[in-house]
Amino acid sequence: MLLWITGKGLLGSALVHECNGSLPVLHTGREVDVADREKVFPFAEQHPGITHIVNCAAFSEVDKAELMKEEAYRANAEGPKNLAQLACQMGAKLIHISTDYVFPGTSRRLLTEQDRVNPCNYYGWTKLRGEENVLAHSMCVIRTSWLFGAKGKNFVSKLLKLLLSQKEVRLTDDQWGRFTYAPDLAKAILKMLHHTGLYQYANAGVATRYEFGLAMREEAFFMGYPILTEAVIPVPGAAFPTPCPRPEYSAFDTEKIEPYVKIRHWREALRDFLCAQLPVYL
Ligand SMILES: NC(=O)c1ccc[n+]([C@@H]2O[C@H](COP(=O)([O-])OP(=O)(O)OC[C@H]3O[C@@H](n4cnc5c(N)ncnc54)[C@H](OP(=O)(O)O)[C@@H]3O)[C@@H](O)[C@H]2O)c1
Repeated sequence: MLLWITGKGLLGSALVHECNGSLPVLHTGREVDVADREKVFPFAEQHPGITHIVNCAAFSEVDKAELMKEEAYRANAEGPKNLAQLACQMGAKLIHISTDYVFPGTSRRLLTEQDRVNPCNYYGWTKLRGEENVLAHSMCVIRTSWLFGAKGKNFVSKLLKLLLSQKEVRLTDDQWGRFTYAPDLAKAILKMLHHTGLYQYANAGVATRYEFGLAMREEAFFMGYPILTEAVIPVPGAAFPTPCPRPEYSAFDTEKIEPYVKIRHWREALRDFLCAQLPVYL
């Protein structure tokens, strides 16, 4: 077994860490542009014996995707297509990571893999094309949402910095989703290596960013973080206008993946995140 992990961002790094010497791994970043067939196919030829590919490479900056349409489309739609074709040709398995942003976000109930997709922004649209390209080759897609972890830019890492530096923190309380701790998703991916089809994975419990912020302040304070924030204030999403819309409600139903992977509540995952970060801040 030889696993090729693309993408050196938040998830790619967590996944490599999770493999931790127990699995032979190839890990590539920008040097193997997944959208460039002239890079992808020769890389595989130079590394015979790849049995599994996990695609964590993506153009993940939602607002920038509106401005850099071609680049976003290349990474999020063409990249997965190349990897799916390559996997077919090599007789390997591909797991591609997608997003809750494929949903329009207008419904108010947990969303299953069968629910109607209709992205409300260009990033979501490119990710949907990527899903279609992968599923057309009978490979595996795992959607995830509101990802957080130690590496990379993410809301939860920024929130911790705010709680350590600001007296008041304002957080939206009218957008609902399911947070996902990158190391938990990494464990789930390794359990799903032999699967095909569409799945959704996130930590348990639907929350707003405000609810998450309250919990983080409480847990971090209890752990001994030097928290400065005295008030976490709920605000509407309109308080933080963004260049493109986000789904208002995009919480997954994860029943389909649950027979294969363990799913714990986001609050438990948050405690692990804070424990892991503590040495950095004390
Ligand atoms: N973060 C979230 O909240 C979230 C939520 C739902 C789903 N997802 C999905 O989860 C997956 C992992 O996300 P993440 O948070 O780990 O993203 P990330 O931190 O942005 O990592 C993605 C990596 O892919 C690289 N990349 C971009 N275009 C590439 C290309 N053409 N070829 C090779 N590498 C390329 C990026 O390089 P640069 O840094 O140089 O651009 C970056 O290192 C993505 O599929 C994303 O759509 C993320």
